Amino acid sequence: MTPAIDVQGLQVSYGPHAVLSGLDLTVAPGEVYALLGPNGAGKTTAISVLTTLLTPTAGTVRVAGFDVATQQVEVRRRIALTGQSAAVDDMLTAVENLVMLGRLSGLGTRRARERATELLERFSLTDAASRRVKTFSGGMRRRLDLALSFVVVPEVLFLDEPTTGVDPRSRLDLWEVIRTLADAGTTVFLTTQYLEEADLLADRVAILDGGRIVETGTPAQLKSLVGSDTLVLHGDDGEQSAEIPTDGTIAGLRAALDAIEDPGAVASVSLRRPTLDDVFLSLTSTGGPARPLAHKEIA
Ligand SMILES: Nc1ncnc2c1ncn2[C@@H]1O[C@H](COP(=O)(O)OP(=O)(O)OP(=O)(O)O)[C@@H](O)[C@H]1O
Ligand SMILES: [Mg+2]
Repeated sequence: MTPAIDVQGLQVSYGPHAVLSGLDLTVAPGEVYALLGPNGAGKTTAISVLTTLLTPTAGTVRVAGFDVATQQVEVRRRIALTGQSAAVDDMLTAVENLVMLGRLSGLGTRRARERATELLERFSLTDAASRRVKTFSGGMRRRLDLALSFVVVPEVLFLDEPTTGVDPRSRLDLWEVIRTLADAGTTVFLTTQYLEEADLLADRVAILDGGRIVETGTPAQLKSLVGSDTLVLHGDDGEQSAEIPTDGTIAGLRAALDAIEDPGAVASVSLRRPTLDDVFLSLTSTGGPARPLAHKEIA
């Protein structure tokens, strides 16, 4: 089967500054793929290349079977991208924005109106449907921006930090929309700073650091990289006061307990399974392969 996204040896440099230095990845049709990385890792840069907005320095990139460098029109016809607030017209109302994009995308007037109504409902903007966008709050504008990328169901949907600045309720709604689209066959490529989002949503997660993918796998596979449980200490107030990594064995747990400097100050202890946060920190903070996390004071 042709991959929905196929990236080989992608390099992007801004002048002498190499941002992506040999990125390789493939995403299967219908897969939800999350790209994680610290600020400045090059996530937006990668999305810009994949959506034909930026010409790479080297490498080949195919999206929906077409080359982004030589078949831009074919690619653009099959994708949608959010993060383009520029697509929102401030002087129009929310419903006008949605209907206009529907019409531009080839829907009939009636279908464009129906779709606008559905999306306003879905993104909790029904009450604001007839207000000009220039009166919207940042979060409302973000929701409208997202709604616009769902007007026509694309073959591949690119979401650059889709839920940044979105309240928790709308975030849940959006996750449901993304899952529904993926179940219906749309490939989703998203970047996120919320590891919980990658964990819940993504079939596969890739961690970008130093211009390359340093690790990739299902959320469960990545969590198994950092492997062991963490001993969590709680103070009198029940708050977490420190955590100590273990290797998952009884001896390791015993050693962790022995390492507690002031047992009198510890009211209770618990064990926590690894999270994607642990994976992310162990792989990106100072680079290199997975290694045990340092004893981390939460304070
Ligand atoms: N047009 C540009 N000209 C020069 N440098 C740029 C340009 N765009 C991005 N960069 C640099 O490239 C690097 C990667 O930026 P990019 O926006 O892709 O990171 P990101 O992973 O999306 O970060 P964030 O998590 O903050 O969104 C950064 O060091 C940034 O300063
Ligand atoms: Mg970015």
